[in-house]
Amino acid sequence: MKAIVVKPGTPGVALSDKKKPESDGKSVTLSPKLVGICGTDREIISAYYGQAPAGETFLTIGHESLCTVVDPGNSGLKAGQAVVPTVRRSCGVCWSCLHDQSDMCFTGNYTERGIKGRDGYNSELVVEGPEYIAPVPAGIGDFAVLTEPMTIGEKAITQSLNLQKRVEWGWDCDDGLSCKRALVLGTGPVGLLAALIAKLRGFRVWAADRHDGSTLRASLLKSAGVTHVNTQTSQLKDIADSEGRFDLVVEATGDAVVGLDLIPQLGPNGIMALTGIPGGSQVYQMPAVDIMRSIVLKNLIVVGIVNANISYFRDALADMVEIEKRFPGVLGRMVTNRFSPDDYSAAFSEKGHDTVKVTIDWTK
Ligand code: BGC
Repeated sequence: MKAIVVKPGTPGVALSDKKKPESDGKSVTLSPKLVGICGTDREIISAYYGQAPAGETFLTIGHESLCTVVDPGNSGLKAGQAVVPTVRRSCGVCWSCLHDQSDMCFTGNYTERGIKGRDGYNSELVVEGPEYIAPVPAGIGDFAVLTEPMTIGEKAITQSLNLQKRVEWGWDCDDGLSCKRALVLGTGPVGLLAALIAKLRGFRVWAADRHDGSTLRASLLKSAGVTHVNTQTSQLKDIADSEGRFDLVVEATGDAVVGLDLIPQLGPNGIMALTGIPGGSQVYQMPAVDIMRSIVLKNLIVVGIVNANISYFRDALADMVEIEKRFPGVLGRMVTNRFSPDDYSAAFSEKGHDTVKVTIDWTK
């Protein structure tokens, strides 16, 4: 079967032939329909990241997918049903992995489909355990391919709200969290989706990037009632000064300085969730005293968020239903590009001005 592969450690990507995977009787056979491309895939292709399955040379890439069930086995799923499989697989040993929370693995010996030690979804067929498959609810179209990037925002906001159970957050709001200010840094798919989730939870939401209001991203944010900030022309510090300091910041730029620099702009008892994974090893100068003083004097939390277990996939799909009701069409407009597997090279280098989520369309 066709598969898009990399040779970890060597830059490049290729369309190749792979042996069809076989079901062990307990697994579900899926055919990937759309597979999203993200920054992690680009890092793998550049050979900064990625690991082939044990004993193999090549890794099939792709960890964001929307699939169709081909053979449900004994799973209870139905042939033809749309589903989204998760990314990370258990280390088989630690408490988290043994309790469906491989995203919080203690040993680090997990594998990740399309990333670390396990083939991903850019192939004609895949085989998966039913415990790692979330069914797509009715009314959710092909934009379900956004589920995986959305799970990062789900985890960031759910964990932030859980951590904030330390105080009565929202004691001064008339309605839910309406007096709480959330800022999302970065308007890639993870940032846009996190902004939509924050909106659903009731926050006043700002989302910042380095572009003016003419982009598709700015228009998507506007359709969902999120205030877009162009950091080339507006200072986030000025917004914090005039509107009040931010209660929640979700960092989704992957730039080490952008998030940490903003810590002093958090309000008392605020929280910053860092989701980007910066590459390289550059050394920067930071206002360390100001940052540490802010963290301590304001009881701040800075939390790292990586990966997501199946519960966040179910939550993301349920939130998609809600977002589609409240902001119809916004999610669909985020899937901007579909390339056939034969056009993989163009897909991985696509960088259009209004590109949001680039996908490989395995039905083409
Ligand atoms: C994926 C996560 C994964 C992380 C590190 C991200 O792009 O969304 O699922 O854990 O990369 O490998």
